[in-house]
Amino acid sequence: MGVTFEGYPEISGEEIKAALDFSCRQILHVLPEFTDKFQHAFSTDGFYPPVENRDWTCGFWTGEIWLAYEHCGDERLRHAGEVQVHDFLNRIDNKIAVDHHDMGFLYSPSCVAAYKLIGSREGREAALKAADQLVSRFQPVGEFIQAWGPMNAPENYRLIIDCLLNLPLLYWASEETGEGRYREIAEKHIHTAVANVVREDYSTWHTFFFNRETGAPDHGATCQGYRDGSAWARGQAWGVYGMALAYKYTGRKEYIDLFRNVTEYFLTHLPKDLVPYWDLEFSEGADEPRDSSSAGIAACGMLEMCKYLEPEEAAHYRRVAGRIMKSLYDNYAVKDLETSNGLVLHATYSKRSPYNTCNPGGVDECNIWGDYFYMEALTRMSKDWELYW
Ligand code: GLY
Repeated sequence: MGVTFEGYPEISGEEIKAALDFSCRQILHVLPEFTDKFQHAFSTDGFYPPVENRDWTCGFWTGEIWLAYEHCGDERLRHAGEVQVHDFLNRIDNKIAVDHHDMGFLYSPSCVAAYKLIGSREGREAALKAADQLVSRFQPVGEFIQAWGPMNAPENYRLIIDCLLNLPLLYWASEETGEGRYREIAEKHIHTAVANVVREDYSTWHTFFFNRETGAPDHGATCQGYRDGSAWARGQAWGVYGMALAYKYTGRKEYIDLFRNVTEYFLTHLPKDLVPYWDLEFSEGADEPRDSSSAGIAACGMLEMCKYLEPEEAAHYRRVAGRIMKSLYDNYAVKDLETSNGLVLHATYSKRSPYNTCNPGGVDECNIWGDYFYMEALTRMSKDWELYW
């Protein structure tokens, strides 16, 4: 069954409720500033500045608002969520900063969520348009969705592991429209991604390049990790959640085993408090920052996969997720309104290293998806949650 962290306490029902109650309090507290604006990708000294709806990360803030609405039902949250969904429709209609693959990160927790929760027609329209935008990035030569940059640019003829979270938008679009083309592209991408990003030891490549003429797999490379051959913690966490979603949507049995192995690699590279350093290269005592957001993402992946496993194995992953969440709650969560306007401290967006080609920023800060997935995991543990993905 793998590593269990026996002896480590699980988060209790009261703690889950207290954590969700505080999350709602914090979100309601900052809502006047963040209704027409969004929280930035990461905080500065614990505080998110307000930004326009331009980054790949803005959907997480709206997702937090919907999760808070689910928990406490305050109508101010519903109003703010609707204002933001309108903004997301404007963004896709006017093609504002949507020339990349992160349509799922943007439109699932904001617009699909709004449609599922309150039947928002604008949410449905925006999310379907975003799905069209996402399929427009499919590369038939190689059969994958190109992550970044102008289509066919040689330096960007690649996919990235994070994209596994963008694909549920396509399954939803097929379900909604009855058109199989979204699902077919999603399935091709999943197959290509899974076949190439998972290494022999079940660590993962962050990004993987293909030959532009033949589509043949070329090579893996990091973008945000410590070095090419290391396992960037968040990439591995996207793999954990991504494999669970890949199994949910394709039903392919081989993805269950991949989920087990990718998850085991993640878990066996955690330090004592079960929250990873920003790259799994680093272990207990390293003088490096954590990425608390990876812990929340992996917990969500395990909680999703529990639904499809036999009871004993499901209970195992539920316990492990409960232990990780206990550590996040005890050691990383914001507990008062003065420390931060976010929810979870000590996340790392992108730390400078000789191999990291991503812009550095957000080191040892809150980040917006860390806050979102913390709330999603808590919500999953508090009820039978209909997922936004
Ligand atoms: N998807 C980009 C990141 O995880 O930082």
